[in-house]
Amino acid sequence: MVAQDNQLWLAMWKNQQTDFHQPLVNRHLQEYWHRLKVPNMGRVLVPLCGKSNDLLWLAARGFEVIGIELSSLAVKAFFKENQLKPKKTRSGHFTIWRHGRIRILCGDIFLLKHTHLGQIDAVYDRAALTALAEPARKQYVRKLLSLMPLLKPILLLTTEDVDPLRTQDSAALVDQEIFDLFSPHFAIAVSYGDAYPVAFSPATVNKVYQMKRLTAATD
Ligand SMILES: C[S@@+](CC[C@H](N)C(=O)[O-])C[C@H]1O[C@@H](n2cnc3c(N)ncnc32)[C@H](O)[C@@H]1O
Repeated sequence: MVAQDNQLWLAMWKNQQTDFHQPLVNRHLQEYWHRLKVPNMGRVLVPLCGKSNDLLWLAARGFEVIGIELSSLAVKAFFKENQLKPKKTRSGHFTIWRHGRIRILCGDIFLLKHTHLGQIDAVYDRAALTALAEPARKQYVRKLLSLMPLLKPILLLTTEDVDPLRTQDSAALVDQEIFDLFSPHFAIAVSYGDAYPVAFSPATVNKVYQMKRLTAATD
């Protein structure tokens, strides 16, 4: 199932079906990031990062950025479009592309181990959880928790359908699912972003979930 989904994503990059890519830095990232209070020069994990310009924004603020992306076409495009010349190395199932404070591990996130990353100080997820099929979402959250045993804050951005009949990713269902998946471990604050009509189709809403660990820090 997951392997099939991987093939679909690889084909989407090959066929340039990448409408999810935003040419500009995400404005909810810019607005909400400081609320996570990530330490200066902290290490930020960006799962399923595509060729997002958000990586550049985080690196420009002094964070060490680790993106995870399945498609080598996406990773190549990220560095090429930003005129960066990365160094490439190999580690287990992953090819690591590195330039300055940005490292992208190219491979399947489900094969990633804590030892690939070291300590993580925060996670930025834009359309990563919700890019996965429903059964893989539980697996994804388990993976995040294993990569981040000390439970650091997460900023999670989604685009959800307002109309409950249109897709399985309606706002009400996604909300419930995110609470079910994360609330045993995190306090969740939801900020509703902008709802806007898409031409000839029902509206979508961009939402912001800020997550902080529930238990008092012992680390
Ligand atoms: C909806 S896109 C979001 C990309 C990025 N976060 C952004 O904001 O543009 C999801 C990305 O996840 C990647 N992906 C899907 N499954 C993956 C997996 N198992 N491991 C790593 N990356 C994966 C896809 O190739 C795609 O680039």
